[in-house]
Amino acid sequence: MLTRERNELLVRSDHDTLMGRLLRRYWVPALLAEELPEPDCPPVRVKLLGEQLIALRDSDGRLGLLDEFCAHRGVSLFFGRNEECGLRCSYHGWKFDVDGNCVDMPSEPDESNFKDRVRLKSYPAVERGGIVWAYMGPEEHRPPLPELEWAALPAERRFVSKRLQETNWVQAMEGGIDSSHVSFTHRYDIAEDPMHAGTAGLAYIKADRHPRFEVAESDGGLLIGARRNTGEDDEYYWRITQWLMPWYTIIPPFGTHNPLGAHAWVPIDDEHCWAWSINYHPTRALRADELDSMRAGEGIHVEYVPGTFRPKANRDNDYLIDREAQRQKKTFSGVAGISAQDFSLQESMGVIVDRTKERLGTSDAGIITARRRLLRAAQLLADKGETPPGIAVESQRVRSASLLLPADEAFHVGARDALRAEPGTEFVSI
Ligand code: FES
Ligand SMILES: [Fe+2]
Repeated sequence: MLTRERNELLVRSDHDTLMGRLLRRYWVPALLAEELPEPDCPPVRVKLLGEQLIALRDSDGRLGLLDEFCAHRGVSLFFGRNEECGLRCSYHGWKFDVDGNCVDMPSEPDESNFKDRVRLKSYPAVERGGIVWAYMGPEEHRPPLPELEWAALPAERRFVSKRLQETNWVQAMEGGIDSSHVSFTHRYDIAEDPMHAGTAGLAYIKADRHPRFEVAESDGGLLIGARRNTGEDDEYYWRITQWLMPWYTIIPPFGTHNPLGAHAWVPIDDEHCWAWSINYHPTRALRADELDSMRAGEGIHVEYVPGTFRPKANRDNDYLIDREAQRQKKTFSGVAGISAQDFSLQESMGVIVDRTKERLGTSDAGIITARRRLLRAAQLLADKGETPPGIAVESQRVRSASLLLPADEAFHVGARDALRAEPGTEFVSI
């Protein structure tokens, strides 16, 4: 449970809020690189952390993320012309380059130097890992580029998608931290999914449906361990989720033949977020059949309402719930697809869940600790200017893992090597 005040601090991300200032110290996944496919392509509206922006790729291929609204009289630059290294407003022809400089002002006399005094808000934008990232914080604190394993891999080892989620970003992310729902919400899917079939991990999960949860702090966030019995007294089966500040999760794997899965949960505004889903394999290219199923919206990805990033199964159609499938134990909740199962339940909580009413149990330890860590980092930044966790690139080079550990060993100690993302090495999973 949180007080109303703490809940407000946690969920608000505008530029003048405590959490908004914290989030602006990190690179923000802004849009898919393929949404800006070539120089001078149409600009794209992007809303991030409550700010309405416009993304463009100029004639030289340079990326820009500008205030959506023209500095002259506020027309949306979505309707502008992306031409000759700048975006020209369609109302009176003012033109802005990717850095926000006004480079032409044809509505003013030639001798006027007014344009030199006009600037549009602009943020640094870079392409990495199939994503255009933005940095929306103070320039003197701009961190090095993200070194998350999936972001640093060659393109053929990775698949990235995003979907609109119609809730606040924190409750979406809490779903990524909460591994205890897996035994319920996804019970029948995991048992049937060919990606999990035949793995020792699946057998342990089926045999012990009451995992014990333990949480340990990492440099950049948290390790959330789910412990299950193996039938042997001297060892446990551990599934370890990584949560990385401020909004990343890495799903524990099943077996070593399947790609890993990861998410980022990024505020659009306080009532919507982007759920980014990434599959990647550290040591091999993804196969054509894997890519086909990801593009078809299987696994952690979704099928869309055509021409949008809104899932086809959404709030308006009760996520296409199928009561017969629920009765026949094909799906636990009646909703098809792991991703839709998650967001249907998270959206059902309301756009911003009232955390004053919740009753948290022992299985919620990960969520409780993550909230505390976010709020503490935001407060330390505000009070002392302390650099938040997860900014140092070394803290981002991590993996999740699933493995057997001796019963008397702390999970975060026994799994230490398995949790490091050493480039070119296999990940640890059973
Ligand atoms: S509103 Fe954009 S040039 Fe006038
Ligand atoms: Fe889930």
